[in-house]
Amino acid sequence: MTSKSWSDDADTALDARLLGMLVLGIETSCDETAAALYDTRDGLLGHALHSQVDMHQAYGGVVPELASRDHIRRLVPLIESARQQAGVSLQQLDAIAYTRGPGLAGALLVGAGVASALGVAQDKPLIGVHHLEGHLLSPLLSTQPPDFPFLALLVSGGHTMLLDVQDFGRYTLLGETVDDAAGEAFDKSAKLLGLGYPGGPELARLAAAGNPRAFDLPRPKMHSPDLDFSFAGLKTAVLTRVRALGAQASEQSRADLAAAAQDAITDVLVHKTLRAQQVTGRSAVVVAGGVGANRQLRAKLAAALQSRGVRLFFPELQWCGDNAAMIALAGALRLQRFPDNARAAGAFDVLPRWDLTQIGAPPD
Ligand code: KG4
Ligand code: ZN
Repeated sequence: MTSKSWSDDADTALDARLLGMLVLGIETSCDETAAALYDTRDGLLGHALHSQVDMHQAYGGVVPELASRDHIRRLVPLIESARQQAGVSLQQLDAIAYTRGPGLAGALLVGAGVASALGVAQDKPLIGVHHLEGHLLSPLLSTQPPDFPFLALLVSGGHTMLLDVQDFGRYTLLGETVDDAAGEAFDKSAKLLGLGYPGGPELARLAAAGNPRAFDLPRPKMHSPDLDFSFAGLKTAVLTRVRALGAQASEQSRADLAAAAQDAITDVLVHKTLRAQQVTGRSAVVVAGGVGANRQLRAKLAAALQSRGVRLFFPELQWCGDNAAMIALAGALRLQRFPDNARAAGAFDVLPRWDLTQIGAPPD
């Protein structure tokens, strides 16, 4: 006959630490549907993603209703695919993390609803993850991750922020865009040049054949003493040049204008990041979010920071855009560091607008 003893409990607790925390992450905030499994001991075990880019391309941008419907179609098979890669069962999960915000309300509700249903079925707690915290932590998925503290430039389709990251969950906003995000500046410039959606990668491709000095574009707010950004004026400047070129614009002049736009956007981003580094004195800089995939931004920042002896960290290219690996990672770290963040599955909410600096350590 066996009886459960104190040492059994201690062994179980020890096993849990040795085995790590296993978390399923779900991302559906915009136009990528993704699922991933992350273990705090073994790292990323499986991930699957479907991009809706082809579906939205016909409309020149994300159509929220179509995005939600496609998330519904795709999410459960993607979870199953990630689970099979990881070789684990849903019963083995310690928690289910999902993107709670910010993002498109209907799209977020799909991920939150599926997470909650799985949580009820498997009796697992839920962790609502801030999408931008996922982006911020995405370089931790690399084999050579940065240590806290670091300065972060967060550049996505909807956000442009400089953050002082003191520690996990301790984020101070140093500056942000007062109008368009850097990704929007790429996307809108690309649209004006007749390129497809999403415009960032397309504009970068066209720019490769162009001469950035052929057009003199403004660098809004670049020399202002604050750490804020403004890109709306740049879009207007691109519009004026496109109109002046007219319908018969040569391929070379379009490439030149693309190169000039990319140069202006990355100049501003680099300039403000250098200023923020000077202000904070941080010796490591992390660049995260979709625009972090831009090669010119990477090269300019690397050159500028190297001369200051500052280390630069990027997520791997596959983790620059939206993905669930970063959500599973952020959820697993929250479960480990702030277990009170975990909530019983059942009723759930989403936060389409959610301030990153408010998420902090205490449960919300
Ligand atoms: O982080 P993300 O995938 O989604 C959001 O949370 O917004 O960022 C998407 C943004 C889009 O504006 C896209 O055009 C831009 O990132 N982007 C790029 C590049 N790849 C993606 N912008 C410039 N150069 C790129 N290579
Ligand atoms: Zn994102």
